Amino acid sequence: MPKKLSSSNSSIEKIKKRRLDQVLSRLGIGSRKAIRKIIRKTTIEVNGKRILDTSFPVSTEDEIKIDGEIFPISENYFYMLNKPAGVVTATEDPKDKTVIDLLEERDKRKNVFPVGRLDKNTEGLILLTTDGKLAHFLMSPRKNIYKTYIATVLGKVTESDIQAFSEGIVLDDGYKTLPAILKIFESGNESKVEIQIREGKFHQIKKMFLSLDKKVIYLKRISLYNLNLDPELKLGEYRSLTETEIESLYNDFLDSKG
Ligand code: URA
Repeated sequence: MPKKLSSSNSSIEKIKKRRLDQVLSRLGIGSRKAIRKIIRKTTIEVNGKRILDTSFPVSTEDEIKIDGEIFPISENYFYMLNKPAGVVTATEDPKDKTVIDLLEERDKRKNVFPVGRLDKNTEGLILLTTDGKLAHFLMSPRKNIYKTYIATVLGKVTESDIQAFSEGIVLDDGYKTLPAILKIFESGNESKVEIQIREGKFHQIKKMFLSLDKKVIYLKRISLYNLNLDPELKLGEYRSLTETEIESLYNDFLDSKG
């Protein structure tokens, strides 16, 4: 029997119908490509009826069984936020405004959390989601998840700095970072650069430049993996990810599971 949402729930959110392969891939069953094969090899039932059509529309009201086992469909939420300086990447804080405080009340109720963190004075892309598995993948140091930042740095950034970033830099605590990519847009008393790193050590970029005797005076994250900050979002604004953005985060995530 299909599961019923309470009327109060359904009045808040219009029930969305999605393709079966999309729902299954978000349950971590496999990429949409893999699901085309899985659907023939296993018995997938929707409300007691075997389904072979990967585009069959389902919603949280439907009951999905895979080889007799029920897989509850939970709706996950995904937002990108352009974090302003002065806001902390946390779900609550005794004194500072948090990224969650920037959401509208109805979105706060969804219990999304930030994936990774930016320093209080760093701006830019924060992904907020309810999806713990995806967050775990994106934060995994072994998965080569690149994050891209633009920065203004006091001092002349040079080719030798590009070389140092590409070899990995020893920080003040003795830790040697993984190789990173540095591009120079402008070099002078204040230099404009882009940095790509695949770790998330505390103050990592600031510390990398400090080790080269340079000071970061402005830092903004512009992408996380294959998700780019929407240039239309002003500081403090956020929006839901598009289906295409969610899809590409998921396909890579599931393909990386092999
Ligand atoms: N590196 C930093 O130094 N700060 C950030 O917020 C992110 C990366």
